[in-house]
Amino acid sequence: MNSSSQATRIVVTGGAGYIGSHVVLALGEAGYDVLTYDNLSTGNRDAILSGELVVGDLADKDLLVKTLTEFKPAAVMHFAASIEVGESVVDPLKYYRNNSVNALNLLEALRVTGTGQMIFSSTAAVYGNPAQLPVTENTPLQPINPYGASKMMTERFLDDLAQANADFRYVALRYFNVAGADPETRLGQDYANPTHLITRALKTALGVFSRLQVFGTDYPTQDGTCIRDYIHVADLAQAHLDALRYLSTGAQSAVFNCGYGHGFSVRDVVAMAKEVTGIDFPVVETGRREGDPAELVAGCEKIHRELGWQPRFDDLKVILRTAWDWEKKLVARGG
Ligand code: UFG
Repeated sequence: MNSSSQATRIVVTGGAGYIGSHVVLALGEAGYDVLTYDNLSTGNRDAILSGELVVGDLADKDLLVKTLTEFKPAAVMHFAASIEVGESVVDPLKYYRNNSVNALNLLEALRVTGTGQMIFSSTAAVYGNPAQLPVTENTPLQPINPYGASKMMTERFLDDLAQANADFRYVALRYFNVAGADPETRLGQDYANPTHLITRALKTALGVFSRLQVFGTDYPTQDGTCIRDYIHVADLAQAHLDALRYLSTGAQSAVFNCGYGHGFSVRDVVAMAKEVTGIDFPVVETGRREGDPAELVAGCEKIHRELGWQPRFDDLKVILRTAWDWEKKLVARGG
């Protein structure tokens, strides 16, 4: 293991995954020493562009403790999780185990090793179907699927732990719909069975899928399809660095929404995907997907005010273009 100062060391669980890998890259570029802890169940070894990798599972508490003891990070960023709303409805226990129970393991390992800071990947899914938009961090948490509930539980673990221990502080970042790819096309989403709208749309344009399904056109929104707040993954990565800096100043534990504060419908995204790719790919309208709220748009004043977050890619076209560049690179690579 490396020998630079403790203040710059960060452990990233799930650093081989889509969002985690972008954050590992951003941390490396900002001069941090990074150790990725990942079981490679959905992540790729090749996506880790900075620091070292320990292949391990969050269920393996002994390995977690050993890793934290040896590396002595100033903070842990916790990305590793199961992330699909639809799957969580079908297989809820997988989500409670991978997301809640494993987070508990990690927190216990943090306590054993005296690791005092954590940045947690939470989700807008904790809000469920909010009565008022945009949703602020004070909007009641009423998840409508096991994925959101599993993340809400972890937020509760963190809050209770921080209340009980002055030497533990955390930031929970509630991600809205993360999309796009590294603007230099070094990284992007690379799952075996992608379910997210933008990736499905672009892979349909490439002919990987025969058609894109639009899940539900009878929602109470302007065009009948669901509205989401799509945030570029590089801006989200920056929010993690801002959160790290925030905690390093001794600031108190906090929760922040991560979104741009405006939403696009599924139809908007499909139209932009066709424009960016120049391909009129097949689209079929089908019934609703279980567990989908009609509209989720972030109230994001707090993250601007308290973290000083300054997004650079708040543009649906840029999100789609960077994702499209990445998809074409995957094809060229034969992946
Ligand atoms: N959709 C389609 N067709 C597809 C895929 C998705 O119509 O092939 C629709 C969905 O029904 C939904 C919208 O596109 O209305 C976005 O769906 P995604 O699967 O891309 O993303 P989700 O909104 O379900 O979930 C994502 C993250 C969650 C996060 C949530 C917060 O995966 O972690 O955004 O807004 F909680």
